[in-house]
Amino acid sequence: MIIKKQEELRETANLIAAKGKGLLAVDESTPTIGKRLAGINIENTEENRRAYRGMIFTAKGLGDFISGAILFEETLYQNHEDGESMVAKIDKLGIIPGIKVDKGLRPLAGGHEVETFCQGLEGLAERTAEYYERGARFAKWRAVLQITADGCPTDLAIKENAWGLARYARICQESGLVPIVEPEILMDGDHTIERTAEAQERILTEVYKACAENGVFLEGSLLKPSMTVSGADNANQASSEEVAKMTVRTMERSVPAAVPGIMFLSGGLTEEDASVYLNTMNSIERKSSRSLAFSYGRALQQSCLQAWQGHDIEAGQKALLARAQANSEACTGDYAAGSQPSSQDSLFEAGYKY
Ligand code: 13P
Repeated sequence: MIIKKQEELRETANLIAAKGKGLLAVDESTPTIGKRLAGINIENTEENRRAYRGMIFTAKGLGDFISGAILFEETLYQNHEDGESMVAKIDKLGIIPGIKVDKGLRPLAGGHEVETFCQGLEGLAERTAEYYERGARFAKWRAVLQITADGCPTDLAIKENAWGLARYARICQESGLVPIVEPEILMDGDHTIERTAEAQERILTEVYKACAENGVFLEGSLLKPSMTVSGADNANQASSEEVAKMTVRTMERSVPAAVPGIMFLSGGLTEEDASVYLNTMNSIERKSSRSLAFSYGRALQQSCLQAWQGHDIEAGQKALLARAQANSEACTGDYAAGSQPSSQDSLFEAGYKY
């Protein structure tokens, strides 16, 4: 069967991957956003989540740097305090609304004890059709893999997560949603950057094999990988130059050229590191001009949350725009390190759940 909305998918994917723009991930599940709000002593109520996200979606000029916003289902169907839908607010900024469609991670029976698979395929075709009706034009599915000294990622975990991503991608495309394919490798562990590169090549190769088997239309899809970095506990952390070189090499080796953009997650990097690493990637020589951009959650929101403190809309928006601009500049290799304010907070959390 042929995917009907191919041209629309290609167009949406190209708009998202437009030079100098990236994605804002604000699709934290209710427990996860609760942890963020707790960090500034704000209660995790629907009203407070609306206030926080409403502040973000009324930041004038955000669309100059951000092409799409990934929403949690609650936000897709929520109205702003002023009565207008959040989707309308996002549209007004010239940003494309997207939706997280996975239903979270579960232990992988038969795998290593830290390994998981991502659930949410059941009923996905019906849900994606409804999300499209509501205005979403792309989707996200976060599969997670881990590197350990005793054999992870196992072949089983790679196979299962790659297959889930490919099934999800194909189903989304049938509904006209561009799938963001996210096989995240957690930074947990003390492994070297070379070990990360080797595991990531295995994983991405399997993901694109599964995509081929499922007839995924690659031109209408995007990849959201973690950067190729050292394990968080490795005493010998790779420099930004090494990270950029190894990440570019890994992507060149394992991602088909038909995929129009690679939108990196921040994965626990600090706000400034996430921008500097991306900027370095876009400053070095590489084999293609394909867009290397961002799809950051923590690295776009930390200083915004801190500045907002539950009430200061102007300060929150200013901080958000500063990091959005920094990352936009990083997409073209034009970011001068430190030229925008950032939070120094460590954003790494072991075994991160979204
Ligand atoms: P981080 O940038 O905080 O890793 O989140 C991005 C994301 O959407 C993970 O799925």
